[in-house]
Amino acid sequence: MIRLVQVEDRKEIEKVARLAREIWTEHYTPIIGAGQVEYMLENFQSSLAIEEQIKKGLLYYLLLYNDTEAGYLALEPDLKEKQAKLSKIYVRSDFRGMSLGRKALEHAVNKCLELNIDILWLTVNINNKVAIDFYEHTGFIKAGTIVQDIGAGFVMDDYKMVKKIKPE
Ligand SMILES: CC(C)(COP(=O)(O)OP(=O)(O)OC[C@H]1O[C@@H](n2cnc3c(N)ncnc32)[C@H](O)[C@@H]1OP(=O)(O)O)[C@@H](O)C(=O)NCCC(=O)NCCS
Repeated sequence: MIRLVQVEDRKEIEKVARLAREIWTEHYTPIIGAGQVEYMLENFQSSLAIEEQIKKGLLYYLLLYNDTEAGYLALEPDLKEKQAKLSKIYVRSDFRGMSLGRKALEHAVNKCLELNIDILWLTVNINNKVAIDFYEHTGFIKAGTIVQDIGAGFVMDDYKMVKKIKPE
């Protein structure tokens, strides 16, 4: 059974940070290199960084498969703009292709409906083919590119992708 649990306490935050280290190291090293992976983990996915993000309003969820931590999701709602950023959606490699990504996305969409949000958007590395294909398969469309300087000489080279939540 697939379940999502909102991340609220220190113990759960540490579980997300552990999952991030495992999944990002495995998945992103061939795409952006070990140096940038380590830099991004330390700056954006340490327990402290996640705690700060939650304080600022990001919603983090652990994805559980039969009670085993199999991935995580993060959503950043902007109620004023009626948009939300799908900030993180990560499934451990041995749990992929088992509908966890779809369940996580459904959860994000339901949260958007609950918050009266019209647009779900995200950024994805232009070389992250697996993720781009998954997003296109689940109704996102490309809406341009974004190059972002993240410090220490590293840049993020991304597509922006968007999905309409409510049919017109
Ligand atoms: C992208 C990711 C979240 C997808 O999760 P997943 O659990 O493997 O996907 P699911 O099993 O839920 O698949 C959902 C649907 O998408 C399809 N799908 C999944 N991966 C796909 C791919 N690479 N290409 C095309 N379709 C894909 C499935 O066939 C399924 O279709 P269906 O529901 O119509 O039968 C997962 O592969 C992942 O974590 N990848 C590495 C990390 C990453 O890049 N995350 C995104 C960062 S921007």
